[in-house]
Order: sequence, then C-alpha cells, then structure tokens
Amino acid sequence: MDKFSAQVITVSDRSAAGERPDASGPALVGFLTDKGYRVVGSRIVPDDRPAIEAALREAVAVDVALVVTTGGTGFSPRDVTPEATAAVCERMVPGIPEAMRAASMGITPKACLSREVAGIAGRTLVVNLPGSPKAAVENLSAVIDVLPHGIGILRGERLDG
Ligand code: MTE
Repeated sequence: MDKFSAQVITVSDRSAAGERPDASGPALVGFLTDKGYRVVGSRIVPDDRPAIEAALREAVAVDVALVVTTGGTGFSPRDVTPEATAAVCERMVPGIPEAMRAASMGITPKACLSREVAGIAGRTLVVNLPGSPKAAVENLSAVIDVLPHGIGILRGERLDG
C-alpha cells in the first residue's frame, strides 16, 4: 500500500461489547482524512492483548503504512495496548510518544499518565493514542506533520529525488 494508507484500531472493552459508541475511531478517521491519508479500515477490539496483537498483525500483513490505535494506554489493569504494540513491533520509536506527551503536557498535566508507545513492524508504523477523541487527536496532531518523512524512509523512498 502507499505511504498515505492508514488504519484506525479502537481498543475498548465497552465499545467492543456495544455498550458505548466509538467516538475516537471516527474522530481519527476524519483527522487522518483531512491530513491526506487514505483510511483503509477502522475496527474495534477489546482491551485484550491477543486481540490487539492479532489486529496489529493483520494490518502489518496487508502492508498498511500507518496504524493508529486509540485507548488502553492508561493505568487501568485492562490497559495493555502499549504491551501488545511492543510485542508486535521489531523496533520502537520513542521519539514519537516523547513528542506527543511533551506537546500534551501544555494542554493537561495528566498527559504524562498515557503509557502510549510507537514502533515499527515490517513496513508499518504503529502509533498508540489515548482513548478519548480529544486526547487522541491532540496527541496525533503533535507528530502528524513529520510522519510522512519517517514513513517514507521506512518504505525505502529516495530522499534525493
Ligand atoms: N493527552 C492529551 N493531549 N489530552 C488529554 O486530555 N488525557 C490523559 C492522557 N493523555 C489526555 C492526554 C489521561 S487523563 C489519561 S488517563 C491518559 O492519556 C491515558 O488515556 P487512556 O487510558 O484513554 O489511553
């Protein structure tokens, strides 16, 4: 797939069970579309490590350039999105969550409570985001403009022409 392909994965027990509408997934689809991404899919999985890992591996297998997850980055005992992401990724990208948290600390001091990570699996960049629509878009906004450069390098794009 091309470097502006993206998939959104909402991680939420309640949304997966149909108990709460997923607001963050649609917010991220809208944001990514506005930024020029072609969102090839969005799905909801429960806060379950095997389920999250399986969803991530499926996205990697179809060669999506960017996967953003929303939810499961906090302190709840069920919050395991960062662990699932790290299990799937071959290489971590600490600068992305560092930048997102640094920017978000100017919005709320609670930003440091997100354990979000980012990493590379195959030719796919995975970026965790917090669960609320507001927090998810705020975090992604902090790094969205630099992602094409990194994804381009990941996918072997020539830098000199
Ligand atoms: N980052 C931004 N930019 N804005 C926010 O409102 N909320 C924080 C944090 N990051 C927030 C944010 C809060 S209150 C929590 S608990 C953590 O994200 C984890 O969120 P999650 O458990 O929904 O993943």
